[in-house]
Amino acid sequence: MKIIMLGAPGAGKGTQAKMIADDYGVPHISTGDIFRANIKEGTELGKKAKSYMDKGELVPDALTCDLVMDRIAKEDCKNGFVLDGFPRTIPQAEALTEALQKIDQSMDFAIDVEVDDESIIARMGGRRACTECGATYHIVNIPPAKEGICDRCGSALVLRDDDKPETVKKRLSVYHEQTQPLIDYYKEQGILHAVDGMLSMEEVFAAIKKILGA
Ligand code: AP5
Repeated sequence: MKIIMLGAPGAGKGTQAKMIADDYGVPHISTGDIFRANIKEGTELGKKAKSYMDKGELVPDALTCDLVMDRIAKEDCKNGFVLDGFPRTIPQAEALTEALQKIDQSMDFAIDVEVDDESIIARMGGRRACTECGATYHIVNIPPAKEGICDRCGSALVLRDDDKPETVKKRLSVYHEQTQPLIDYYKEQGILHAVDGMLSMEEVFAAIKKILGA
């Protein structure tokens, strides 16, 4: 089962991608998480990615595509994977389609998590992310059991650098300009499905499970 999660920044793609990965036993591949891990480790890729991410801009396709293609060629992706945050531009989507065509494969589902811009801004301000395991919470909607501490691994929760209001606005405009056209791209491929991302986390997941047929 090969799934793409689409949606604006903060729509809940990561939250749902983790639930799908746990439920269906397939890897969750988040380009944002890969970049953040590289930033934390101080790698060359991390340094380059940070300069774009801090401004709310996209990391160039050339840096992103090879990274994802290498990851999906790994053994643990043999039975499927959930892509979260990739593709984000038409050239990235075309690169993915071509890479899969070469091995006689294609994506099965593109799931668009729909949330309006106003709610996105409210969600991002309240999001707290774990510095160690990447789990995400919301101070009002999905709070951790103990304030500021990750339920899963006990590490500190922080506000992401790119979740500051000015950067969120920039990320939203980049999304509308460069990523939203993917909705038509996957509609044309016949694999697009939309879910109402304004529902509760569990209701969104139930809608996704229905789409996936399980
Ligand atoms: P990335 O990490 O992918 O960020 P994003 O797409 O902007 O997505 P987010 O992680 O912000 O949000 P999400 O939709 O996963 O929402 P979440 O589940 O956390 O990318 C960061 C940056 O990296 C980009 O700006 C770019 O620079 C770079 N990058 C990454 N991929 C790239 C690519 N392919 N090409 C180029 N550059 C790339 O939920 C948000 C909040 O809402 C949380 O607090 C959550 O708890 C809460 N929430 C979730 N669901 C619900 C619900 N149903 N009800 C109420 N609250 C909810």
